[in-house]
Amino acid sequence: MSRAVILHARRACRDLLSGARGAAGCLAIAGALAACGADSATTPPPPPPPPSSDTFALRILADARGKRVGAAGDAGFRLTGSDGNQFRSVLAREYNLLTPENDMKFDHVHPAQGTFRYTGADSLVAFAEANNMKVRGHTLVWHQQLPSWLTNGTWTQNDVSLMLQDHIKQVVEHFKGHVVAWDVVNEALNDDGTLRSSFWSNYLGRGYIETAFTAAHLADPDAVLFYNDYNIEGVNQKSDSVYAMVQALKLRGVPIGGIGMQGHFQVNGVPSTLQQNMERFAALGLKVEITELDIRVSLPSTSASLNAQADDYRKVFQACLNVNACDAIITWGFTDRFSWVPSVFSGWGDALPFDAAYVHKPAYTAIYSLLK
Ligand code: G3I
Repeated sequence: MSRAVILHARRACRDLLSGARGAAGCLAIAGALAACGADSATTPPPPPPPPSSDTFALRILADARGKRVGAAGDAGFRLTGSDGNQFRSVLAREYNLLTPENDMKFDHVHPAQGTFRYTGADSLVAFAEANNMKVRGHTLVWHQQLPSWLTNGTWTQNDVSLMLQDHIKQVVEHFKGHVVAWDVVNEALNDDGTLRSSFWSNYLGRGYIETAFTAAHLADPDAVLFYNDYNIEGVNQKSDSVYAMVQALKLRGVPIGGIGMQGHFQVNGVPSTLQQNMERFAALGLKVEITELDIRVSLPSTSASLNAQADDYRKVFQACLNVNACDAIITWGFTDRFSWVPSVFSGWGDALPFDAAYVHKPAYTAIYSLLK
């Protein structure tokens, strides 16, 4: 395929994506979307077939609903590895939002004191922009994936406060204009709602949360800044505590713009209070996003368990559709080929909408039917 043809197809693709406000204008979308996956002048790989010949990509349906549908991916091997072509093609075809699964974390971008390394994250951003996808930054301040130079160092409280602010400033400024939202603080609370003991809280106390949001806002006033956590999807002790925390932050004028509910569920485990919980955070003037959705089933999965999983995916997407402030749902990966789940929850997996061969599952069909 010539470079001119590729460029023309890419332009057509972007025009369709930016202009599509309903399914009616999108009948020819599959071919154009496939071209979106082409990131160079080399011949693009043939994309996996769409789920069926009369379907649209999820991103087209989501766009028509005013929502974004995203997935997490890594530059390391998921975008460039042996089956990267398939990964890229489906990702670009189906999703309009990308979260780096690991490439923007502290240890990845700040491997030595004062040394910043953006190779992986930059390539993800370039991929997203070439395919008309937005990028969610993940994550600036977390207790995991911290480099040993930081955790093993000897510091004063003031040192740590300055390093926290400098890290945020450097990273957010680097991606300014390319990242629409940041998970600024990730998983700061325990399940009982108390402050988690961590490198950050042990040096700085609870105040590090406010410091982080303020620093991020200074570095990019246009990015929407999220507090992100797990087990806060339903109304419970932990989400009550997050609610009280963000309410207090808002009252003090701290620039928090959204709540990220991760959504790492076990099948049949979607809380019945999900929508109610989203609504109370929305009433604080916050965006609410499902940021890391996956729904694990016991392995080996069966048609019954995958159908139950599909019902759960439908519930989560339905709750988001019902709440205006919920503008995005991101799954943590999209293919069962690459998921953190089996390595952490032994005997569990198959948590995503595509199977390990990139074939869509009942979960995909459930999402599709709901969005259509
Ligand atoms: O990069 C190294 C690679 O060089 C090495 O060869 C390989 C050997 O194991 O490890 C690679 O690093 C791994 C990294 O993922 C990249 O694949 C780490 O060991 C592994 O711990 C790391 O796991 C990530 C985990 O966060 C870290 O806690 C998962 O991929 C990622 O999905 C997971 O994501 C978190 C969110 O950020 C926050 N919410 C929970 C979610 C699931 O735990």
